Amino acid sequence: MTTTVGMPAHLAHPFSPAGRADPYPAYDWLREHAPVFHDPMARMWLVTSHADCAALLRDPAFSASAGQRQRTREDDLPVSMLTSDGADHARLRAPGALLLGPGALADVADGTAVDVAEILDRFTAPGARVADAVEEIGVPLSTAVLARLFGLDTTQRETFARLARAASVNLDPLAPPQIARLGRAAMGELTRFLDAHIPQAQGSPLGKLAADGRLTRTEVLGVLGLAVVGGWQPLAEAIGNALYWLLPHPDAVTALRAGGEQAGLLAMDELLRLEAPIPFTARVTVTDAELPGGRIPAGARVLAVVAAANRDPAVFREPGGLVLDRSPNPHLAFGGGPHFCLAARLVRQTGAQLLTRLVRRYPAAALAGPAPRWSGSLIPRRLTSLSVHLGESAGEAARA
Ligand code: HEM
Repeated sequence: MTTTVGMPAHLAHPFSPAGRADPYPAYDWLREHAPVFHDPMARMWLVTSHADCAALLRDPAFSASAGQRQRTREDDLPVSMLTSDGADHARLRAPGALLLGPGALADVADGTAVDVAEILDRFTAPGARVADAVEEIGVPLSTAVLARLFGLDTTQRETFARLARAASVNLDPLAPPQIARLGRAAMGELTRFLDAHIPQAQGSPLGKLAADGRLTRTEVLGVLGLAVVGGWQPLAEAIGNALYWLLPHPDAVTALRAGGEQAGLLAMDELLRLEAPIPFTARVTVTDAELPGGRIPAGARVLAVVAAANRDPAVFREPGGLVLDRSPNPHLAFGGGPHFCLAARLVRQTGAQLLTRLVRRYPAAALAGPAPRWSGSLIPRRLTSLSVHLGESAGEAARA
């Protein structure tokens, strides 16, 4: 049944300043009392249970392109698979796998392993024991992964990271108009940078995508722009979010250190479940829609709140706690249905590799003050910074 009751006054709305810091009490209430909720404040529908979110993401009544076409024309930016439906979407997504799918992952794996080692090496110098996990670990990792996919050399990484950061404001659908305008301008600059780079990208996954011929140059640029805006910051933030949950649990750290590759992948999934960097994704209904938890009329703006679905007690035992080896773990942090994150394997693998190597290399790693704060941005869900005291590296401890 669709519920039209309001949220209790004592709960901070998830988009209010207090709710942005801690949206989970409101998500819990919504999931339990109104899993398909018309929110008069946001003038959107919020869908919060796992069953409803999973159904919504697969239902063609919920369009990813409706409401986007006008904006795309105004921007003069390439069309994105994320905001396409049906055959248009499939046509863009299939070649996109050359950039982000299993073959691409195999192409970049050796390089990203070197990058991970280099990032962790930076903290062995005396006085460099405290790291901001967001800026000094997550951002370099994410920059390195995208640079490998795009065939950028190390001298281009700084420029790329600056452009990626500026363009990333396009992720937040609720960004104020003046910020959104700046984001679109930054997107234009990023697109020109990548366009000029394509001829030098041979041999990399980007080179393979560009040479494939199924997409026009403009469409290739659309895939690249989406990979940057949809991927660079979420991957960077996922590392801070993960360490925020992992490091206060010594048993979990010990298990991760001792476990193999599979344990690392399960851990990464669980950490993404608990603190999804992309907490919700938007759709517009093109017909009346029926979900297990209620009906939504045609023409409605709808958010699939995957961060709420990921803590649904109907699906996850101990939904608000860390169960590092949780399996199965049907979290929706990568979405679901036709738009399921094209880079999910890449993210799981590189994230797992970084976390596992970090706790092996720095066995005493622990959160350091000051207490971390959640940023006011809605997407991605991110910490403004996360101080981590790394302590001695394993090699030093062994030598001592
Ligand atoms: C922790 C990091 C990441 C998270 C949590 C994440 C999450 C998501 C989610 C939830 C969607 C679906 C959106 C929707 O249904 O509207 C998505 C789609 C997508 N993601 Fe990711 N993502 C991450 C990293 C990346 C990276 C690093 C890349 C590329 C380098 C990437 C590329 C894409 C693409 C291309 C799509 C669109 C797929 C389609 O429309 O068919 N993502 N991602």
